[in-house]
Amino acid sequence: MFRLTQQMEWLMSGQPLPPARKPPGPVVIWNLIRRCNLTCKHCYSTSADTHFRGELTTEEVFRTLEDLRQFRVPALILSGGEPLMRPDIYDIAHKARELGFYVGLSTNGTLINQDNIHAIASAGFDYVGISLDGDEETHDRFRQMKGAYRASLDAMMLCREHGIRVGGRFTLTEENAPQLPGMLDLMDRLDVDKFYLSHLNYAGRGNKNRKQDAFSRTTRDAMTALFDRCHAELKAGKSREYVTGNNDADAIWLLQWAREHYPQRAELQRQKLVHWGGNSSGVNIANIDNLGNVHPDTFWWNHHLGNVRQQAFSSIWRDTQDPLMLGLRQTPRPVEGRCASCQYLDICGGNTRVRAYQLTGNPWAEDPACYLTDEEINPDGPQQIPLLQA
Ligand SMILES: C[S@@+](CC[C@H](N)C(=O)[O-])C[C@H]1O[C@@H](n2cnc3c(N)ncnc32)[C@H](O)[C@@H]1O
Ligand code: SF4
Repeated sequence: MFRLTQQMEWLMSGQPLPPARKPPGPVVIWNLIRRCNLTCKHCYSTSADTHFRGELTTEEVFRTLEDLRQFRVPALILSGGEPLMRPDIYDIAHKARELGFYVGLSTNGTLINQDNIHAIASAGFDYVGISLDGDEETHDRFRQMKGAYRASLDAMMLCREHGIRVGGRFTLTEENAPQLPGMLDLMDRLDVDKFYLSHLNYAGRGNKNRKQDAFSRTTRDAMTALFDRCHAELKAGKSREYVTGNNDADAIWLLQWAREHYPQRAELQRQKLVHWGGNSSGVNIANIDNLGNVHPDTFWWNHHLGNVRQQAFSSIWRDTQDPLMLGLRQTPRPVEGRCASCQYLDICGGNTRVRAYQLTGNPWAEDPACYLTDEEINPDGPQQIPLLQA
């Protein structure tokens, strides 16, 4: 996860480089339920409106929460499927807040209405992220439900009215990229607190439909538009938080942007980005799925590290000798191809290993969705055409 606003604010501030900070434990993204009322074309959890057997019970979730707390996990993102389809979602949220976690809810928003908004507000979520993948026509087609866009938009407004910190989550594809500026305008009109741009990852239906991924040129333009917007808003005194995920090349692209707009700060910015450290799957990000299986992140559901029914998360995470995890925890990661010769490997950490694995069967191959050119990453190397270049 790349906290764009934080980086941009610091870049503009002229402040000295703060010391690098090490988080106490990993942020856990927890897919509490796989069932969902939608069947989105890109869904990494391959969710559908059907009951999935063997999901963790409330008691099992509570027991795991205690363990996560002791392990100093700072934040939980409760996700799915559609987490609001779990009848005990409010009890889980209450318990998690009681234990002192930062608790985010990741929802498609279509099930938020007057009947449950009070329960959602009083559950005390620190943040509710609602997916919106383009204009009405695109979103409804992408999410395979007519009316989904309207319902998600209404949900955002309802959350705002009830004082809930709310934001939009947008998964970038070649098709919806032209709609990004309109989406950013909409976020401004709704006055939401946060905007999360998720690059497509190749898992579940997102892998089946990976041809929809944005071309490099498209991604570069989209990210520049996002940076410009974030910059302009900060200048105007607005404090909306912009965050991106699933493509750590965003940090390097920001460095290029800084070289153009704040050249005197660019070298320090580079150091700050190295402190940030790039992709943190298996290190500062962890995933528990609906059945209690632990994975290096949400997109590695084909790779199991253990199950919280048999072993505490803390012990699975701390004691694992899984080869993928050992590689993810290595500095630098044992990446190959373009990533191995990249002058920015210390910033992005080799980007997203799942995409490399899905394309080649080798988790250490180059990330096919890195949108930097060969010349940018290795000015002295032989020239090739990047895979996703349009
Ligand atoms: C799996 S969904 C679960 C929460 C809720 N059902 C929703 O759609 O917001 C979590 C988030 O991941 C995003 N997402 C799903 N599949 C993805 C993929 N293959 N690559 C990137 N983001 C993805 C969704 O758009 C959503 O914002
Ligand atoms: S992305 Fe979310 S809303 Fe869409 S099918 Fe998956 S879980 Fe459901």
